Amino acid sequence: MDRIRIIGGVPLKGAIQISGAKNAALPLMAASLLTDRPLLLSNVPDLADIATMRHLLAQHGVESHMTAEAAGGHRLSLAVPDITGTLAPYDIVRKMRASILVLGPLLARAGRAEVSLPGGCAIGTRPVNLHIEAMREMGAEIEIEGGYIRARAEGGLRGATVRFGTVSVGATENLLMAATLARGTTVIENAAREPEVVDLTRCLVAMGASIGGIGTDRLVVEGRERLGGASHEVLPDRVETGTYAVAAAITGGDITLQGTSVELIGAVAETMREAGVLVEAEGNGIRVRRANGRLQGVDVMTQPYPGFPTDMQAQIMTLMTGAEGAAMITETIFENRFMHVPELARMGASITVHGASALVRGVPRLTGAPVMATDLRASVSLVLAGLAAEGETIVNRVYHLDRGYERLEAKLAACGAVVERLKG
Ligand code: UD1
Repeated sequence: MDRIRIIGGVPLKGAIQISGAKNAALPLMAASLLTDRPLLLSNVPDLADIATMRHLLAQHGVESHMTAEAAGGHRLSLAVPDITGTLAPYDIVRKMRASILVLGPLLARAGRAEVSLPGGCAIGTRPVNLHIEAMREMGAEIEIEGGYIRARAEGGLRGATVRFGTVSVGATENLLMAATLARGTTVIENAAREPEVVDLTRCLVAMGASIGGIGTDRLVVEGRERLGGASHEVLPDRVETGTYAVAAAITGGDITLQGTSVELIGAVAETMREAGVLVEAEGNGIRVRRANGRLQGVDVMTQPYPGFPTDMQAQIMTLMTGAEGAAMITETIFENRFMHVPELARMGASITVHGASALVRGVPRLTGAPVMATDLRASVSLVLAGLAAEGETIVNRVYHLDRGYERLEAKLAACGAVVERLKG
């Protein structure tokens, strides 16, 4: 298994091109199932999760081609004249939970779907009950059998009013896609408002869907007989943006993040500014550097958008390990998302966990160590810690990083980081 070796202590300076958002690209790819016309996506990142989604969609008859764009992203064309299979097998779903996003589109277009239950993962139990209940409210008959969700809607789905008790990005996306081809009107209340959900609604509208309330927590979808093809540019990755912003701040460097915007990382930018980081819009991007002196501890609580994103919790905690004073980091979205804490402690961080909160007391410096993480964002937080630490850090289980960060070592090395991948 590959590892990443970092020699820390170098202030990072330079420019980093931000890739398209993985979490927008995955639902957009699933939306290709809704039409027999081609869907052309641009600014798609080249990541393991994108390859997994292509592999899954191929089981349903989707032909896909990916080519490099001059700007650094990728063009992905997807076409499925006929749905040739409705099974999403365990072997693929267990690798990537976002596979559940084919449930709504398959039911809407083919009238049936058999999707493996994803099961738990490192950051919690992560049920899919909201997805299932929403499809039932639209008239689907669903049984859970042999670890699979077996869903039928032979006569087609019908519009319904669905109020989610918990804000769920994936369940909102699944229902939204299903509703575009349902008979009648669907109202989604307490819908997720994440920028990736908004990106999906824009693409669906370009495909001919009728959706009102875009960007709000109440979406109104008028079902259509059929949707057409479209061309759509994937929005920039706000988690990658925030992660490299932390890389600049934690190393005391000065980085320009290109092809992204301050608005996209609102709550993260605000927290970093409070801590003493300069985050400014510059040209077609953001310049991030540290103001003079040590950073200040700032309390953070994760929330659905527009609150502080859970996908940036591990990274901001890592930044706070070197701040003056204390910072209380509270995780409200996932129940088990502090696995990075013991690893950061091995690098000299002072962190105490009490239930859903972690109290971080700043230390003058971290020291390099061999570390390992069990999910994507925890892994990258250890890379950030390694960049700031004195000496050598080896991050194990790099495959987590490859799921969500495109050319991570190359992007960091271009800003002066001493980082390399050890094969094997
Ligand atoms: C998406 C993101 C993930 C991010 C998360 C929260 C993608 C591919 N992934 O995941 O990176 O961390 O949003 O911003 O976009 N829940 C239920 N029942 C359900 C569904 C969810 O109880 O049926 C709970 C979850 O356990 C969690 C909360 O709702 O506590 C939010 O999860 P959700 O927004 O659904 O996350 P994902 O869409 O899986």
